[in-house]
Amino acid sequence: MDSIFSKLQSVTENYYAGLSDMSIVPKKTVEEIKNYLKNRDLMGGENIESTLDDLLPWLQEGNIHVPHPGYFGLFNPATSFSAVVGDYLTALFNPQMAAYSHAQFSNEVEHSLIQFYMEKMKWPNSATGHFTSGGSEANFTAVLCALAHHFPEYLTEGLAGIKEKPRFYVSALAHNSFDKIAKNAGLGTSSIFKIPLNDDFSLNISALKEQINIDKENGFHPFLLVGTVGSTPIGSIDPLFELSDIAKTEKIWLHVDAAWAGGAIISPVIAEKLEGIELADSVTADAHKWLSVPMGAGMFFCKYPQTVYQTFQTEALYMPSQNNNDPYQNSLLWSRRFIGLKVYMAFRVKGAINLAADIEKQLSLAEYMAEGLVQRGWKLPVQSALGVVVFTHEKIEKLTPDELAAFHKRIIDQGNTWFSILKLKENLYLRACVTSIHTEKQHVNQLFVTLEDAIKKLNH
Ligand SMILES: Cc1ncc(COP(=O)(O)O)c(C=O)c1O
Repeated sequence: MDSIFSKLQSVTENYYAGLSDMSIVPKKTVEEIKNYLKNRDLMGGENIESTLDDLLPWLQEGNIHVPHPGYFGLFNPATSFSAVVGDYLTALFNPQMAAYSHAQFSNEVEHSLIQFYMEKMKWPNSATGHFTSGGSEANFTAVLCALAHHFPEYLTEGLAGIKEKPRFYVSALAHNSFDKIAKNAGLGTSSIFKIPLNDDFSLNISALKEQINIDKENGFHPFLLVGTVGSTPIGSIDPLFELSDIAKTEKIWLHVDAAWAGGAIISPVIAEKLEGIELADSVTADAHKWLSVPMGAGMFFCKYPQTVYQTFQTEALYMPSQNNNDPYQNSLLWSRRFIGLKVYMAFRVKGAINLAADIEKQLSLAEYMAEGLVQRGWKLPVQSALGVVVFTHEKIEKLTPDELAAFHKRIIDQGNTWFSILKLKENLYLRACVTSIHTEKQHVNQLFVTLEDAIKKLNH
């Protein structure tokens, strides 16, 4: 085992030390990858060292390197070493979290993290929460709990047992996991109403009120409002206080999808943007976004433990305990890994104060990027509250979608910077976001150089 660990040590050290010089985009083509896999044997078994030697180049050159400091992509951060060690130990000890009695320590660790976050959100101690595979599962959990709360008959009779058609509301920029959830929960996508946006891309409250009235007159039963804090495209923030007022008046469940921003509530700067989260009935927050821990580490919080229990409770007489605190009785998953350990390791080793400082540094690098782009003649059509930079250029505005895609590909193929194309209200823009703890000003400067060079070449 010594030789394996020394190999892993050098792989890890070289990865961190050489990350900025690596190509962000894969060097291996899909054809090469498929060929490689076709020529490897799964039947006979082989030595772990030679397997690693054979595999590592493909891991390093077959995927996009999201931890790269020049990766300004979607919310896929670089991971800290302490969190990686946490994930390794989770796999090694492999505690089964489904039954509390099988993994008391691990369940208590997760419980303490959930409590820690509930305090940050100014939630009552009586609330509950658990780790999930990610934000999508947490959002799914919220929809199921809201359904069970409003239509207890749903749990036994299904949707067929509900007289009025359930309706829920999200902003036009809400995460598309809600579309999948509507399909998979049996509600159908016609049960979602996507509320139009204000000029700052937040959910328009008057449009929401109007739609609720129309829906009630037409036999719909509004059961859930979703406010997003940190929309995926641009980091916009929905007005939580107004949403909460409507939720109270109309007796509708209020879920806050803070998958991006929620984990970062440890930073006072972000906590301010999350004000109103204390009013939600349930919340989604991902640790695997701004906390630099490996995927997947989502969190779901809910003010009503009894509703969560009723939503997921079942009788399984083969399970070691019949305890209504068992995670399998209170969440979508059954067998479950110790997701919280990597998060716990990140907090223990780095400390919340330093994790918050990392988040704030990334925010200030995003500001530096935005200012630098403007100084260089780029335009910022959208102001983001949460460190997403949406930009364009007069020369880009003249491009057709295919020409823009080609322009974008020419840049990212160079391998030193990565950002995405964003379609917003029928316009195409470029979108960048600082997500790596390794990003410094020099990497943002590299983005400027690469962009300026690409714009100059557009003249020819
Ligand atoms: C606002 C929002 N909600 C939900 C999700 C889905 O989270 P996950 O990818 O962890 O399932 C995302 C992912 O980026 C998100 O940005």
